[in-house]
Amino acid sequence: MDLPEIFMCCPAVYAVSDRYIITVPVTEPCVMWVRVGDRNYYDHSNGILRSASLTHMMEVPSAALDSSRSYTVCWRKIIERKPYFSDLCDVSEWSSSFRPCGTRDAGKINIYHIADAHNRVSGPIAAGSRFGDELDLLILNGDIPNHSGDIKNFSAIHKIAGTVSGGSIPVIFSRGNHDMRGIYAEELERHTPTDRGRSYFTVKLGRIWAVVLDCAEDKPDGNPEYGHTICCAEFREEETGFLRGLEASCETEYAAPGVEYRLVIAHNPFCEPRNAPFDIEMDRYAEWASILKKTVKPDLMICGHTHRCYVTMPGDPLDKLGQPCPVIAASALSKEDREYYRGGAITLEGRTASVSFTDSRGDSSEAVTVDLGNN
Ligand SMILES: [Fe+2]
Repeated sequence: MDLPEIFMCCPAVYAVSDRYIITVPVTEPCVMWVRVGDRNYYDHSNGILRSASLTHMMEVPSAALDSSRSYTVCWRKIIERKPYFSDLCDVSEWSSSFRPCGTRDAGKINIYHIADAHNRVSGPIAAGSRFGDELDLLILNGDIPNHSGDIKNFSAIHKIAGTVSGGSIPVIFSRGNHDMRGIYAEELERHTPTDRGRSYFTVKLGRIWAVVLDCAEDKPDGNPEYGHTICCAEFREEETGFLRGLEASCETEYAAPGVEYRLVIAHNPFCEPRNAPFDIEMDRYAEWASILKKTVKPDLMICGHTHRCYVTMPGDPLDKLGQPCPVIAASALSKEDREYYRGGAITLEGRTASVSFTDSRGDSSEAVTVDLGNN
């Protein structure tokens, strides 16, 4: 697909709550909006079209894009932005089709999972192309940048999301612990999708309902590595309140009509505490698992962080805190080959998930079939 020169890479359509956030990274200042059906959705700040950031984000109600199945990105390059009589170019446009999740095939839903790219781009894109045009949903599950100390690192997120999804299928993004490190970490919400600033949220994509959880940092807040710059314990406590509150709105969330698959997406497989200093918040994480088990009753939890690929069931040796469902961890790198990447190819069909770990060289593990039970 030909992309306009001003696009740094292909746009990505992120799913958050009941909205899509169409994200377009650009190479020079412009104002931008998308047209869906006969409505425009602007990248604006209280009525002011943004141009200071090179990442444009437009929020569109899911129902609008799901029914139109296409969108048009519109922009005007900035010649000079002034308090009076700003000088902007004529409108340019670029259009894309869009396929809502679960509409390609009445049975199978193909998901590819990428986490822990740590600034790598070509390997994750090669691995992520596993399903080709039959990919229905891409999950980017944290630590895609190596850190947020350089704003250029966010381009790894944009390039992987845009190239693998082609801007024509939804992407779910979650934050990883490495994303929290560096002076641009507090700017992440200007470059990646959040629920109006909050990095944990729910999302509904046709037959899939998912809760995206954010474990934040993986060591105690007082660890010298963080140099007094974080308050993750407080953040996780707020998130516990969010999890407790899900049950009250279950009829429009995980128990809504049409939901067949309930997923938990979290960078950190939080029921598998490791040795000190990574053994934090065990009571908190046991409570999260317990709430999920009692209310959501998830089918699958999908994680990264460990740089390993495996499926672990409740009660298995890795499950220390009462995991609420099978956990898939799917990410691996190579120290020798920077271009190498391995991720997770997951196919949901009926009450099973078929899971293969596939890599950038085209190799694949034998598929594991996970029984999702009768939820
Ligand atoms: Fe991590």
